[in-house]
Amino acid sequence: MNAQFLYVGKEDTFSKTLLERFQKAGFPGLSPHGKKKVFTALSDSSVGIPFVLLDSRQVFPSLITLIHMVRKERPVTPIFVIYDHSPPFSETELRRVGVSGQIHRSIPIDKVVDFINPFRVKTKDFDSQSKPMIMSSGESNKSEGDYVTVATLDMLSCSPPLFDLFVKTPSGKQVKVVSANEAPEIARIQNYVKLGLPYLYLKREAKVRSLNYLSLVENTLPTQARLNLELRFLHLAGQATDFIESTNELAGSAGAFQKATDFLDNLFGFIHSSKNSFTEIVSHFLQSASELEHSVNVAMSCALLAKNAGFETYHSFWQLGLAGLLHDIGKAKLPENQRHRKNSKSWSEGDWSEYRRHPKLSADTLSTWPEIDAITLQSIVQHHERRDGLGFPKGKGAGEITPFAELIGISDEMALLSDLYPNESVQTLVNILHKQNGNGFSQKTWDTFIHTFLPT
Ligand SMILES: [Fe+2]
Ligand SMILES: [Fe+2]
Repeated sequence: MNAQFLYVGKEDTFSKTLLERFQKAGFPGLSPHGKKKVFTALSDSSVGIPFVLLDSRQVFPSLITLIHMVRKERPVTPIFVIYDHSPPFSETELRRVGVSGQIHRSIPIDKVVDFINPFRVKTKDFDSQSKPMIMSSGESNKSEGDYVTVATLDMLSCSPPLFDLFVKTPSGKQVKVVSANEAPEIARIQNYVKLGLPYLYLKREAKVRSLNYLSLVENTLPTQARLNLELRFLHLAGQATDFIESTNELAGSAGAFQKATDFLDNLFGFIHSSKNSFTEIVSHFLQSASELEHSVNVAMSCALLAKNAGFETYHSFWQLGLAGLLHDIGKAKLPENQRHRKNSKSWSEGDWSEYRRHPKLSADTLSTWPEIDAITLQSIVQHHERRDGLGFPKGKGAGEITPFAELIGISDEMALLSDLYPNESVQTLVNILHKQNGNGFSQKTWDTFIHTFLPT
């Protein structure tokens, strides 16, 4: 039988056990990584997807973007969300975004299997009796007038679909066979599969309505204070990661820049309009910092420091956040092994001097972007300068380094440490940072940093 479920999330003991357990029961699963692979798996119309499991810790694409992707390609496949701390959605919101259930990661695998319950249909029956269901590529989601198709195999778990479903009679008429929000009879779905009926139909209008709602949530999520803080935070991180991923392809073009602006607008709204306390927001950031892409980590840290450093106007926030996102863009011009300080143990003096060129390379690249102003460029070129004169590329001293450059610099050092020591406490990381750079930053920068990340 041509059906497999999808698990999209981090690989850990939970996901491995889950994939093995379902495999044993005759439901093979696939665990694609990255936006492109997830899309390829979802759009493979030769395979039915009876259910999808999404990890709420997923940063890129973020949970809500994933839900949108699944709904677009697989309108009736049930979606289940695996979460760690608190459930990402309230009961009402769960129904609105079309998620069938939320499962805490700590529950035993057998209970997860019972909860998803894809075994109501005896899969072996189909292998021996069903006619082959041939779905040529590109056939899924095809349009027929006011209707679009869905793979019958996507209904295999008999979960209540979000939409009314129809079959087409030989005369070409659409007849409703499953009602929205009602679990269909197993025998009926079994019968369609046995008859070799590859598609069911749903009204295009209903699908468009559901996708429009998801787009709305996706675009405004970070500032929707009523929704889960973790969900909003991870969505922001996903948006910024999307920008970083696309900068290489789109460098300097309006498309890439618009993504950065959308992220910074949302980040500003997230920090300034949130009902959650600033401390709560900071603690969410610190929890995820070691898993964020480096530049995303630095930009988020800069944005949080900006609030306590007095750069609260939108313009200065935007300049600092953008500089944080783009500070290392010049590294793309260096060979891979000279880009990351965490690999520096094996570096020769030559490697070091190449690495020290990157702030200037970043500024050179960005000087061709009309949207980047002189202050942003200056803070980027100075992000490795230190007040004790030990920085680079110029070895500048106290009084010569801009406050923005110092905030990017201290965020950069913290991001490196959270990457090197993902399991250490914030206090330990701050201690290491202070030991290495105590005289590298002004007292004001240190005060802002401590006040933000180690509030008393
Ligand atoms: Fe750097
Ligand atoms: Fe950096």
